[in-house]
Amino acid sequence: MSDIANSLAASIRAIHDYPKPGIIFRDITTLLGNAKAFRQAVDELVRPYQSLSVDQVAGIEARGFILGGAMAHQLSSGFVPIRKKGKLPHQTVRMAYSLEYGTDEMEMHVDAVKPGDKVILCDDLIATGGTAEGAVKLLRQLGADVVSACFVIDLPELGGRRKLEALGVEVRTLVA
Ligand code: PRP
Ligand code: ADE
Repeated sequence: MSDIANSLAASIRAIHDYPKPGIIFRDITTLLGNAKAFRQAVDELVRPYQSLSVDQVAGIEARGFILGGAMAHQLSSGFVPIRKKGKLPHQTVRMAYSLEYGTDEMEMHVDAVKPGDKVILCDDLIATGGTAEGAVKLLRQLGADVVSACFVIDLPELGGRRKLEALGVEVRTLVA
């Protein structure tokens, strides 16, 4: 890994058996609380998209909101929250999904993106890719062009990157 990837990796805490026995939870609150690491992570996430004229960054609740909001600010784009069901006040589209340790449903406002909008999907981590796959499907249902998906952490043995690439989405990650 590069020096930046190594120093980002060192800023992430591992919690064993959370939220279920057998899961090693990658806790980015330690990265977010480290000013240098937070800036480096956001700078690295936006770098490939700076010349793209991105319309929206879509962030997945909850940790994708923190990183995606900072990305949208740096890219001068809008920000679209993809939320757990029941949280958004206006009319929504909904999608069931499964992840490393459970199942849930996510929602977006029906008018959050316009057909043809260039959207970057953002989250802290990709594991099985179930969450990100659900988000790509929702965005495409509304006509968005999902040009790329980015994550600070990839857990490669869980196959999420391959799942998204099979949908035709470019995947960028900082730390494996
Ligand atoms: C985590 C993480 C991703 C998802 C990845 O979120 O932030 O969104 O799991 O897992 P997958 O690739 O197997 O789908 P979590 O569901 O724990 O929600 P939270 O951010 O609200 O805690
Ligand atoms: N989401 C899915 N698997 C995860 C893990 N191991 N750590 C943090 N978030 C996750």
